Amino acid sequence: MLAIASDHAGFDLKTEIIKHLKEIDVPFEDLGTCDCTTSVDYNDFGQKVAEAVAAGTHERGIIICGTGIGISITANKVPGIRAALCTDPYMARMSREHNDANVLALGARVLGVGLAVDIVDTWLNASFLGGRHQRRVDKFQAVEKKYSIKNT
Ligand code: RB5
Repeated sequence: MLAIASDHAGFDLKTEIIKHLKEIDVPFEDLGTCDCTTSVDYNDFGQKVAEAVAAGTHERGIIICGTGIGISITANKVPGIRAALCTDPYMARMSREHNDANVLALGARVLGVGLAVDIVDTWLNASFLGGRHQRRVDKFQAVEKKYSIKNT
C-alpha cells in the first residue's frame, strides 16, 4: 500500500497522480491535504507519509509540494526514510536502484503532469539492486544512529 500526500501547492498534481494510480490499480491511501485553496504547511504532510512508511503500515510513499524541496527535507528527518526528490525518470530509477528510496518527492510547480506520471511509473517499477549499494544505504542508518536524540 502506497501513502500519498501533498500541501496546497501540490494538491492538483496529487489529484492527477491519484487518478493514474487508480487506472493502473495501485492501492494507495490519501493522507491529505484536501484542497488547494487552504494554505497548509508541507511539513505536516511530509511527516504523515514518512511516519506511515517508517512504521511499516505503508510500503512506500509519494509526497508533493510546490518544489518538492520542503516536503522532502521534512520526510528525511524521520529515521528510516529515504525520500528522493526527482525531476526526471532517470533520477526516479536511480533513486530506487541505488538509494532504495522509500519515498518519492515531486515538485508540482516544476513538473508537468505527463512528466510527473512518467516519474511515478518509473519509480514504482524500479527495484533496489543491492550489492555495493546496500553498504551505502546502510551508511544512511549509521548517520541517523550517530545523531539520534533519545526521547526519554
Ligand atoms: C508553498 O508556497 C511552498 O513553499 C511549498 O509548496 C514548497 O514549495 C516548499 O518547499
